[in-house]
Amino acid sequence: MHSTPPQKVKLVEVGPRDGLQNEKTLVPAAEKIELINRLSDTGLTAIEASAFVSPKWVPQMADANEVLSGITRKPGLSYPVLTPNLKGFERAVEAGVEEVAIFGAASESFSQKNINCSIRESLERFQPVVQAAQEKNIKVRGYVSCVLGCPYEGKIAPQKVAEVAKALLDMGCYEISLGDTIGTGTPLATQELIRTVSKSVPIENLAGHFHDTYGQALANIFAAWQCGVSVFDTSIAGLGGCPYARGASGNVATEDVVYMFNGMSVETGINIGKLVETAWFIAGKLQRNPNSKISLAMRNE
Ligand code: HMG
Ligand code: MG
Repeated sequence: MHSTPPQKVKLVEVGPRDGLQNEKTLVPAAEKIELINRLSDTGLTAIEASAFVSPKWVPQMADANEVLSGITRKPGLSYPVLTPNLKGFERAVEAGVEEVAIFGAASESFSQKNINCSIRESLERFQPVVQAAQEKNIKVRGYVSCVLGCPYEGKIAPQKVAEVAKALLDMGCYEISLGDTIGTGTPLATQELIRTVSKSVPIENLAGHFHDTYGQALANIFAAWQCGVSVFDTSIAGLGGCPYARGASGNVATEDVVYMFNGMSVETGINIGKLVETAWFIAGKLQRNPNSKISLAMRNE
């Protein structure tokens, strides 16, 4: 346990990317743009806007360029995008991005399914992306997937996560987001993971990325926060899932996390009323209710 858990946290909104990437019906670029513009007005400071991945692998992200060109970029906000390789990075540069994210895994099988290469090959592939980014003063964030379980291999050793996270940090990533891709983690396992990884990567450089497939995400965030983690990835209306992790449901809902931290007097800088309105906006476009207890509870307040 961290002696004093952080009194201020940063949320990285991943709804427009992680949230929408698995939607079966193509969401029009104009709706994605409106979603990002609305999110930009809630107090969030980081909004993952899209992914410059292969459109054959993830058709929903094929309009990355259109989305990045269409949004109104507010000063002081970052709009990172996923770039799995140099080709994705070059497309992102053409779209004028100022921050990218590379994404690896702590599981060999997931790495193969998600990005078609081994963990070692992925790190070799990321190296030139980070180098090119540094030359252009573009910030790079790193993800490690399957940190608390893999859909193909089951349990993953925290030490393996630490090795991949450290490799990404050493390569030049300013922050490493630990992804519970399939949401199987529970709070004590989360704390064991954070304690192990923070021996190799300073806690200030770690973020938590919890999917809520088994209803554990909020508890895991609380557990990670108690250990000193102060950055969490969340998704408006609880949208989301990963196309290469069967059964993966959405990330934890942004509004649920803001409600929890508000209740604990931990500063997020985010307006919950505006989040709830935005959650209902995108849920309406997708013709369903938000996957968030807070958005349901606060709709008519
Ligand atoms: P590959 O097929 O091995 O790539 O895919 P390749 O280099 O052999 O190229 C094959 C074709 O794709 C070529 O086109 C390339 O030009 C094209 P063709 O000659 O056949 O016409 N191509 C591209 N096109 C556009 N943009 C690119 C690109 N790269 C190649 N960047 C690759 C390898 C990595 C590209 C592929 O596996 C891929 O795109 N994977 C991405 C999968 C993905 O987006 N998954 C979801 C995001 S990760 C996630 O959700 C987890 C996370 O949320 C954290 C967590 O929850 O744990 C981050
Ligand atoms: Mg994810």
